[in-house]
Amino acid sequence: MTISEYIQDTAKWLEPELGSVFTQEQQKDITVQAALYSLNAGGKRIRPLMMRMTAQMIGCDDAKMADVLYYAATLEMIHTYSLIHDDLPAMDNDDLRRGKPTCHKVYGEGVATLAGDLLLNTACERLFKIVAVKNEYLYSSYFVCRNAGLEGMVGGQSVDLDSEGKAISLDLLYELQRKKTGALIESAVVTPYYLIKGLDEAKAESDPVSLLLKELAEHIGLAFQIRDDILDTVSDPSILGKNTGKDERDSKATFVTLLGMDGAEDKLSSEIKAAGEVLTGLERSGYDVSGYKVLIDYLEKRDS
Ligand code: IPE
Ligand code: IPE
Ligand code: MG
Ligand code: MG
Ligand code: MG
Repeated sequence: MTISEYIQDTAKWLEPELGSVFTQEQQKDITVQAALYSLNAGGKRIRPLMMRMTAQMIGCDDAKMADVLYYAATLEMIHTYSLIHDDLPAMDNDDLRRGKPTCHKVYGEGVATLAGDLLLNTACERLFKIVAVKNEYLYSSYFVCRNAGLEGMVGGQSVDLDSEGKAISLDLLYELQRKKTGALIESAVVTPYYLIKGLDEAKAESDPVSLLLKELAEHIGLAFQIRDDILDTVSDPSILGKNTGKDERDSKATFVTLLGMDGAEDKLSSEIKAAGEVLTGLERSGYDVSGYKVLIDYLEKRDS
């Protein structure tokens, strides 16, 4: 399959689940409308795609796949909330996202802030709800929450904002990007394995395949953000669906500002190569990594 086919298939798989999150009655609420506006604005759904790829790689029956879908929709809600807040004037102050005006441009800053809050809160409700029925998912739900918080996305965004206009070290940039973008990608790559195997924390931290998936996620997460930083410099809003040149405008610390374009390109290649090596290891252990091979090839070259 090509990456476009994977992306289209994932959208078809995900949309009904996302469509069932809020009832018709709830959709009368303006904050729900704003949340759905952003959720359905045309994201690539790359994190749900990674979740499917891990599930397919490990092997997964229909019942477990339904639970992977449930978590994929939940993670996409958390990701969308992070983008709504990231675009607010108090953060990156962006007016274009997923090819459309940003949430606050359409609904105002107050409702957009609430829409982000609502997506995160609803995601947490879903993570609790499933554990009430399936106790073996306790660590999976905790893991998704934790990676969205201080040890993950929020922690990375905090350093990102605090680093504006400052010369930061490469080590701090890595930490920032690992949390800001890497943590949700880690949730996408690793959580399906925890779900399928019903792993608790102790097992999750010692299981060799789980450790390999974390390593894969780290390389993919870095590659994803390096490409995002490159595209901010070289791409065009009509292709990218978001404005460009924002990182320079805001004096952001990025791979491009710290390493230069050539340095960022080299780093991207080495992360893709390292991801490929992890995949070779998984393949030798008998896993079908064909989906992930297509994905990493796309991540190196993607133009949106
Ligand atoms: C954008 O994520 C934000 C970053 C983490 C760099 P995506 O590039 O996955 O955005 P959508 O979901 O396709 O809009
Ligand atoms: C934001 O990174 C990543 C998030 C956690 C939302 P960026 O600020 O670089 O993302 P874009 O370029 O606005 O999509
Ligand atoms: Mg930002
Ligand atoms: Mg931004
Ligand atoms: Mg960016």
